Amino acid sequence: MADTYILSCEDLVRSFGAFRAVDGITLGIREGTIHALIGPNGAGKTTFFNLLTRFLPGTSGTIRFDGRDITTLSPETVADLGLIRSFQISAIFPSLSLLENVRIALHRREPGTMAFWRSGRTMHRLNARAIDLLDRVGLADRAADTAGQLSYGRKRALELATALALDPKVLLLDEPMAGMGTEEIDRIAELIRDIGMSRTILMVEHNLSVVASLAQEISVLAQGKLLAQGSYAQVSSDPAVIEAYIGSGGHG
Ligand SMILES: Nc1ncnc2c1ncn2[C@@H]1O[C@H](COP(=O)(O)OP(=O)(O)OP(=O)(O)O)[C@@H](O)[C@H]1O
Ligand SMILES: [Mg+2]
Repeated sequence: MADTYILSCEDLVRSFGAFRAVDGITLGIREGTIHALIGPNGAGKTTFFNLLTRFLPGTSGTIRFDGRDITTLSPETVADLGLIRSFQISAIFPSLSLLENVRIALHRREPGTMAFWRSGRTMHRLNARAIDLLDRVGLADRAADTAGQLSYGRKRALELATALALDPKVLLLDEPMAGMGTEEIDRIAELIRDIGMSRTILMVEHNLSVVASLAQEISVLAQGKLLAQGSYAQVSSDPAVIEAYIGSGGHG
């Protein structure tokens, strides 16, 4: 597939024994878009994310990111290139402060700064950037609090701040609103919309009203295959999509 896409895969397959969880997916993500991946439970969405980020080796097929073939690269290398999956990289340290959590992520992006932490100026600069990021996710006033004390929704917001600290070209979010209340969902949706202004986002999301309001492009997976792709209006009126949702009983 030509590089009209920032992230793409061709004929991607992942088998578990005789079962093909991802069964020949060819898909491209356009730079600067919010692209949603939906589909019934067990469709292969998380497995597909794991393949794209090289967290899980593929059985066959190729993956391209930002103009290069990443099919055989390590997950660390892929992350360093700017393909970031929020929770995988940015596990939160519960006993550290929010500020420290974000500073650690910033440091990952800037190896060598650790040696200069004694330098007041470097420390000041990192702190300022960490506060900026916390401010973006609505947590600046909690910077000194311990991360473990946060509510579930705010932990997810902190995860987003640490993912942003890694300066992703493409951010992959697997069900970022799962387990949140309505108010938190609205806040995180606004945040994702804001992040999507300057970055490419690929998100798995079960909440279809969130998908309809955020995503420019939607891909529907079912039984490891790409069933449909297009705008919300296009995919939601597609008979194959309706059939897959009803047939599986999935809430997708
Ligand atoms: N490590 C594994 N070993 C065997 N089977 C697996 C493994 N990981 C996933 N599967 C199977 O692959 C299929 C796809 O799973 P996956 O988690 O990717 O689905 P999903 O679309 O993310 O579902 P959900 O919406 O419930 O999160 C499922 O049938 C699952 O049981
Ligand atoms: Mg999943």
